[in-house]
Amino acid sequence: MCGIVGYIGSNRAVPYLLEGLEKLEYRGYDSAGIATVEDGALRILKTKGRVSSLEALIASQHRSLATLGIGHTRWATHGKPNDVNAHPHESANGRFCVVHNGVIENYLPLKADLQAEGYVFRSETDTEVIAHLLEKNFDGDFVSTVRKTTAMLEGAYALCVLCRDFPDRIVCTRWGSPLVLGRCAEGSFIASDISALLAHTNDIFYLDGNEIALVTADGISFFDKNGAPTQKQSRRLELNISAAQKDGYDHFMLKEIMEQPKAVGDTIRGRITKEGKIAFEDFHLTDEEVQRLSRITVVACGSAYHAGAVGKYVIESLARLPVEIDIASEFRYRDPVLDDRTLVVLISQSGETADTLAALRLANERGAKTLCIVNVVSSSIANEGGSVIYTHAGPEIAVATTKAYAAQVSVLYLLAGYLAEKKGLLTGDAFAGYVRDLLALPDLIQKTLDSCRGQMEAFSQMFIPLEHAYFIGRSLDYACAMEASLKLKEISYIHSEAYAAGELKHGTISLIEKGTLVVALCACSAVFPKTLSNIKEVKARGARVLAVATNAENAALSEVDYKVLLPDVNPLFSVSLEVLPMQLLGYYTAKNRGCDIDKPRNLAKSVTVE
Ligand code: AGP
Repeated sequence: MCGIVGYIGSNRAVPYLLEGLEKLEYRGYDSAGIATVEDGALRILKTKGRVSSLEALIASQHRSLATLGIGHTRWATHGKPNDVNAHPHESANGRFCVVHNGVIENYLPLKADLQAEGYVFRSETDTEVIAHLLEKNFDGDFVSTVRKTTAMLEGAYALCVLCRDFPDRIVCTRWGSPLVLGRCAEGSFIASDISALLAHTNDIFYLDGNEIALVTADGISFFDKNGAPTQKQSRRLELNISAAQKDGYDHFMLKEIMEQPKAVGDTIRGRITKEGKIAFEDFHLTDEEVQRLSRITVVACGSAYHAGAVGKYVIESLARLPVEIDIASEFRYRDPVLDDRTLVVLISQSGETADTLAALRLANERGAKTLCIVNVVSSSIANEGGSVIYTHAGPEIAVATTKAYAAQVSVLYLLAGYLAEKKGLLTGDAFAGYVRDLLALPDLIQKTLDSCRGQMEAFSQMFIPLEHAYFIGRSLDYACAMEASLKLKEISYIHSEAYAAGELKHGTISLIEKGTLVVALCACSAVFPKTLSNIKEVKARGARVLAVATNAENAALSEVDYKVLLPDVNPLFSVSLEVLPMQLLGYYTAKNRGCDIDKPRNLAKSVTVE
C-alpha cells in the first residue's frame, strides 16, 4: 500500500523525506514523489520507479532549502504507474498539493462535478479529486478547508496537505488508512507507519479517524472532526524497524493473515454501488456478450488456481455457466478449444506469472474473451487482458499468499453474482440477500480469526513431528483442502495431500493407518453428511481427525478428535472462513519447526519463468 512521509523543522526537509520513503519501501510501490514550499510556491518532483530514481531526479534540480515537505510512495490502485499518476497531486491553481493512501470510493461523481465546473484533470487517480476539492473549498483557513474537503469523501484515506499560502505548516488527517506522527529536537514528523519515525523518536502520536493534525516546527495541534481542539498523549514504543514493518507481528505472513478483513472489505466494498448493484470499473463485456457466453475457463497457478476452484462452484451454482479450471502450465500446452463465447478468467496476484501470462496470450490469440483478476495494477497480465478486476489486497510480501487469495475468492463471488444477475437468475430479494452476505464477510473473517488463532497455535503442536498430513473435503471443502494443503507444505515442508473425500476409497485410504492425522474440511453444509461418512472411514482405520465445520454441524461431530468451529455463513462463502484456520495452522506449524516463513526455500513470490 502507499507510503506517506512529512517533515517540518529546523533542518532541510528533503533528506528526511527521502530517508522516510526508503524506510517505507517494504510496503511495495511503483512510483514516488515529494513536495516542498519554496518562495511562496509549491515545488513538486515525482517519478515512476524507485525512490532511488526520485533521488536522482532531485539531484538533477537546484538544491532545495525548504524546511517543510511531504513525500509519497504509490501502490497503484486507480491509474497506471507513471510520472503523472505519481503523488503528490496539485490543485488546478497551484495552491494545494496532497499525498494520499487509500481509495476514495466516490471519486468518479466528485470528478464529474469538478470537471463540469471547469477543473482540468491531469491524472487518472482518485487522489487528484482531493487536490481540486481543497482549492474549491478554500476559505482562507487551512484546517477548515481540509475538514470541509474530507467531509465530501467516501472510502479510506490518509492525507498530508501542503498549502503555498502557509509555508510554516502541514495539515494531515485520516480515515481508514493509518497515519502516525512524532516530535523530536529536529522538528515534527509524519508517516504512514512508525518504521519511518523510529530513527528520530519512539514517542508516537496515533491520529484517530477524522482527527486533523496541524503540524509546525514547534509542535503538533490536534482537532476533532468538528474542529474543536483535542489533547493527545504520545505512546512510547520500544520496537525496532523490522518489527515495525511487520506491524508488530513476527512475520509478514501473519500480518497479512490478519489483514484479510481489510483486504476482502476493500475488494468488495468498491464494487457494490449505492443502488446495491455489483459493478466493475474495467469489465468490458456487453450485456449481450454476457448472455452469449457458453462457458468459462479459469486458468491460474498455485493458490490462484485454488481460488479458481472456489469460483467454479459458486459461478456454476449461481450463473449456471459451465466452469472449467485449468492449471496454466497445462492449459497452454493442451491445445484448448476456445471461441468468442468462452470467457477465460486468469487469476494472478503478481500479474507476472509466466505460465498464466502465456495462457492469457493463447486465449487472446484464439479469440476468447479474457478477464484478469490481478493484485498488481498495470502488471503484464493486467495490461494484456480484455477486462481486468483488481483485488485491493495491497502489496503481499510473504511468499505464501493469504490475503491476496482471500481477495481473489471475493472477486469470484462478485463475478458469480454479477453474471447471475445479468442472466436474470439472481434477482430481487435473493440478489439483495447475496450482496448483504457479501458485505458481511469481512466481519465474519475477523470473528473467525479472533476465535481460532489461539486454537490453531495449539493444534499446530500435533503437526510439528509429522512427515505426512491429509486434507479431505467435498465440493467447496475440497477446493479449500487444496489451499490448506499447499499452505502447510510450502512453508513447513511437511508432505501433505488434498483429497476429494469421496475419492479416498479409490486408493489413498490405503495410506491411512493408526495415528495418521487427517484434516476434514466440512463447512459446506450441502455435502456434510457425505463427508461425515468419510470421517468415519478414516477413523475406522485408526486416523486422528481434526474437523473444520460451522457451528451448525457441531452436534454431528462427536466422532472427531479435534474440531474448529466457524461462524455460520452463507454456504457459498464458507471457504473464506474455512481457509483461515488452515492458514494459521500452516503458519504456526512452520514457525514451530523453525522454518523461514516469509521466504520458504526454493520458492519465489512471483514465478516469472516457465
Ligand atoms: C501460494 O502461496 C504460492 N505463493 C504460489 O502458489 C502462488 O499462488 C502461485 O505462484 C501463483 O502466483 P500469482 O498469483 O502471482 O500468479
